[in-house]
Amino acid sequence: MSDAPRSHGRKTIRPSLKPRDLMSEAPALARAWHAQVITLFPEAFPGILGLSLTGKALQQELWQLQTVPLRPFGEGKHRNVDDTPAGGGAGMVLRPDVMGAAIEHARSQQAPGAPLIYLSPRGKPFSQEMARDLATRPGVTLICGRFEGLDQRVIDHYRIAEVSIGDYVLTGGELAAQVMLDAAVRLLPGVLGNADSTEEESFSDGLLEHPQYTRPAEWQGRTIPDVLLSGHHGEIAKWRRQQSEDLTRTRRPDLWNALKTRKDFT
Ligand code: ADE
Repeated sequence: MSDAPRSHGRKTIRPSLKPRDLMSEAPALARAWHAQVITLFPEAFPGILGLSLTGKALQQELWQLQTVPLRPFGEGKHRNVDDTPAGGGAGMVLRPDVMGAAIEHARSQQAPGAPLIYLSPRGKPFSQEMARDLATRPGVTLICGRFEGLDQRVIDHYRIAEVSIGDYVLTGGELAAQVMLDAAVRLLPGVLGNADSTEEESFSDGLLEHPQYTRPAEWQGRTIPDVLLSGHHGEIAKWRRQQSEDLTRTRRPDLWNALKTRKDFT
């Protein structure tokens, strides 16, 4: 794969003033939610985001995805992006000058108000609340690390927020970036056909989702709970609420306890 600019969801235009290998994308679309991803592996995008609802929304220009390949910002003939850790130890650290140049390039094309986030297992845990917040911003700039991560001075200098998608270590931030973008993009206006489905689902009201069933009415000797076939909308809503509460209490006592302290919990 070449280091040519890559764009997803619109035609790429190459302004001629900047060196080609530093141009990752066209200028931002006027209104579309603008996701930027700084990465050594631009070919990992759009990945799953190019499919289904997020992919359709990309084509419809409800959002745009700009990859900023890190390699062209590297040093010397080999475009080195990393070096050994100061003080010794295993692995390599991404150089602050290289990452700094990529960040400057990305931010020069990003709207003010779009957060700058580094995907890292030591970051603040990603949540539905953070996804909702991201969806209200003009977009986001995500930094994917590899190896032992970023030089701390870059994080401090640009006041980069660190975000983790869970307590496990991935090889790099690319999968985590796709998780975050998926969670945010589906909340953008017009992306999901049915507005109710975001409202009713898990986490919107702090509860896990109740079980769902569909035809056939009997499968492997198992039937659908009678109440769901009763046509009684009030009873169905009550049953679902009870199921949600029971699941949340038993599976996620942390969510359940947080919920009980909320004033609006009835
Ligand atoms: N990069 C490596 N592991 C990660 C995680 N758990 N969350 C976010 N970014 C990561």
